[in-house]
Amino acid sequence: MPTTTPRTYRVKSFGCQMNVYDGDRMAELLAEQGIAPAPEGEDADLVVLNTCHIREKAAEKVYSDIGRLRRGDGSSPLIAVAGCVAQAEGEEIMRRAPAVSMVVGPQAYHRLPAMIREAGEGRRVTDTDMPAETKFDALPARGKGGRRSGPTAFLTVQEGCDKFCTYCVVPYTRGAEVSRPYAALVDEAQRLVESGAREISLLGQNVNAWTGENAKGQTVGLEGLMRDLAAIPDLARIRYTTSHPNDMTQGLIDAHGEIAKLMPFLHLPVQAGNDRVLKAMNRSHTVESYLAVLDRVRAVRPDIALSGDFIVGFPGETDAEFEDTLRVVDAVGYAQCFSFKYSPRPGTPAATMDAQVPMAVMDDRLQRLQAALNRDQLAFNAASVGRTCEVLVERRGKLPGQWLGKSPWLQSVHFIGEAQIGQIVTVELTSAGGNSLAATPLAMLAA
Ligand code: 5AD
Ligand code: SF4
Repeated sequence: MPTTTPRTYRVKSFGCQMNVYDGDRMAELLAEQGIAPAPEGEDADLVVLNTCHIREKAAEKVYSDIGRLRRGDGSSPLIAVAGCVAQAEGEEIMRRAPAVSMVVGPQAYHRLPAMIREAGEGRRVTDTDMPAETKFDALPARGKGGRRSGPTAFLTVQEGCDKFCTYCVVPYTRGAEVSRPYAALVDEAQRLVESGAREISLLGQNVNAWTGENAKGQTVGLEGLMRDLAAIPDLARIRYTTSHPNDMTQGLIDAHGEIAKLMPFLHLPVQAGNDRVLKAMNRSHTVESYLAVLDRVRAVRPDIALSGDFIVGFPGETDAEFEDTLRVVDAVGYAQCFSFKYSPRPGTPAATMDAQVPMAVMDDRLQRLQAALNRDQLAFNAASVGRTCEVLVERRGKLPGQWLGKSPWLQSVHFIGEAQIGQIVTVELTSAGGNSLAATPLAMLAA
C-alpha cells in the first residue's frame, strides 16, 4: 500500500446524474488539495470509484473494477470506493478488497482530504456517516481555481427520498429528503454560468419535492427557484430531473407554460401500468392519477416531450398486469424512456416478497416493452422533422464541420455548419433516426 501523498487522481462515476455531479464535486475538492487530474491514458495515484447500487450486480462490478486497477508497473493506486455501494456495503468492501483504503458514502465525501491523509499513512478508513453538517457547505465553490464548466451542467438541489418504494435502495443509501438552501443554489448556478454553463439541469432523487425560502422570505417550490434562475442572463436553458408524480404541484405544472427557459421536457416515472402493482410498489399514485398529471402538463405545454422509467417483473406481476404497462405506453406516447428488469435490492421489502418473477419472463417482458418504447421514440423524432428549433451545441461530431447538441425536447441533433461549443444555433430538423436527428442551420438555408 502506498504511503505517499497522491499527485494525480481519476474519478470514475457510475449510475445516475447525481453521481456525475458528486464526481465533479469530488474532482474539484481533490484539485483544491493540489492533486491534479491524471492525463488521459496515464495511471493515476488515486482512483475514486463513485459507485451505483440501484440495480443488478453493482457490487460485483465494483470488485472486478478494483481488480483491474493495478498499474502498468504492477503497483496499486490508492483506491477510494464512494457512492451508494460504499454506503450500503462499506464493511463488506473493506473485508473483501484489501486494495481499497477508503470507503466514503455519498453524504461524507467532503471529508475525503482527511481520509486521503490517513490512507497515505497506511491506514484504512471508512466514513459512511450521514452527518448533520452538509457536505455542500464544506466543498470548494464551483468554478474556483478557474475550472471551466461545459455548456451543460448539473446542479443537485435536493437529495434523498422519503417515499420508500418497496423495490428501491435510495432511501437507505442517500437518506431522508433534504432540500439545499435557496441562496446556495442561486449562488452555485451563477458560478456555473460564469464558468461557461448555458444549461443547468436541477437534480434530485425527488427534485420536485424541493422547497426553500427565497430572497423575499417566501416559502417556494421548485418553480420559484427556477423563476429566479431564469433571471440569470447568460443561462439559456433549465431542466430538472427526477420527479415523483405526487409532487407535481399545479405551480410546477404552470411553470411549464410560463418560464421560457424551462425546456419542454418532463421525466416523470410511472414504473408500472397496473394499480395493484403500483400499490405493491408503494408508489402512492394510480395509473389514472399519473395520466391526469400528464394531461395537465400537456394543457399548458402541448409540445412537452415526456419521459419515464419502467420496471418489469416486479414480484407478483402477472402477464395481464404487464400488458397494462404496454397500454400506458401506448396511451402516453413517450419521447424516450428508461426500462429495467426488477432487481432485488438487499434490505428492501420487495426483495423478500413471494412470487419473484423468473428471469426468462422478465427478459421477454423487457424486450416487448423496449420494442414499444423504441417505436414511440422513433415516432416522436419523426414527428419533429420539419420543425425549426434551437440546438445547444455540446461538442464536435465525427465528420468535418459537424456539431452535436440537444433540441429543447432533449433529442440529440447533428448538423454541419459554422458553430462553436456553447452556442445556440437555430436549425430546421431535416431527418430522424431512433436516437438522433439531422438538421440544417437556418443561416445556411437562408444563404
Ligand atoms: N430494480 C429495477 N429497477 C429499479 N429502479 C430502482 N430500483 C430498482 C430495482 N430494484 C429503477 C426505477 C427508478 C430508476 C432510477 O431505477 O425505475 O426510477
Ligand atoms: Fe426510489 Fe421511489 Fe424514492 Fe424514486 S421515489 S428514489 S424510486 S424510493
